[in-house]
Amino acid sequence: MNMEACGLNRFFAPAQRERFFHAVARRRSVRTYTADPDVGQMSALNYAAARVCLPGVRIVLGEAPAALLYRHLPFVTAISGTSRYAAVIANGQADPHAAIHAGISGEALVLEATALGVGTCWVMAFKRKSVDIPLQAGEKVLAVIALGRFENRDESARKRKKLTEICAEDPSPWPLWAYNAAECVRQAPSALNRQPWRLSFSGRTLLLTQTGGCDLDMGIALLHLSLGLEQRPHEIRWETGKNIASILSEDRI
Ligand SMILES: Cc1cc2nc3c(=O)[nH]c(=O)nc-3n(C[C@H](O)[C@H](O)[C@H](O)COP(=O)(O)O)c2cc1C
Repeated sequence: MNMEACGLNRFFAPAQRERFFHAVARRRSVRTYTADPDVGQMSALNYAAARVCLPGVRIVLGEAPAALLYRHLPFVTAISGTSRYAAVIANGQADPHAAIHAGISGEALVLEATALGVGTCWVMAFKRKSVDIPLQAGEKVLAVIALGRFENRDESARKRKKLTEICAEDPSPWPLWAYNAAECVRQAPSALNRQPWRLSFSGRTLLLTQTGGCDLDMGIALLHLSLGLEQRPHEIRWETGKNIASILSEDRI
């Protein structure tokens, strides 16, 4: 058994976690922007980008015309109307968990932006040559996050798998914290909306298993898993292989 503690434990302050938690339900991918973030939003985003990075991760804000930066995907609305983005950079030589950390840190920036009223979209289909950010040895841009202002529209509910489809067994008898954590993972964004995660509960731990997708998806799910517990104390430990991590919380309450 791998007993290594995850760097996410106690990394974010309680006030930050509360902000993120409330942003989870409000966030959805925005692809049609009306403008770049304003000056105040940009400085708050710059501050947040520096503060959300776990070991092996750097998030740098950049600027590039949307038409040059994003690849067009069939059946997906092209991203337009903003030139601002955040590059999510991981250095696997600096930390073995850098790629999953990048998912955690990038999603923290997404939720911080959501709290600021800034629209976001994670993008892996981007053109690397349009990202004009000097990289250090071992660094790779895993994704960019589009950032911009948008008009509030009443959009239909996000398409998500049912909770029973992402849980290995019926979650209704689980302790409330585990059920809430699974529900928070269910709302997470993922590449191509694959939702490539499986949750199972045994003893006092909830286990996150990868069923496909990429490391960024796993990091995003881990942050959501932890946020679902709100301020309840818990401990996340790395697991091995497709079992990404487990989360332990005492169930005295
Ligand atoms: C790691 C990652 C990569 C993504 N890459 C793209 C992309 O290249 N282009 C795009 O339009 N959306 C991309 N998305 C956005 C997903 O399609 C979106 O999160 C998913 O469909 C769920 O919708 P929602 O974010 O509105 O909840 C990506 C999301 C994640 C998490």
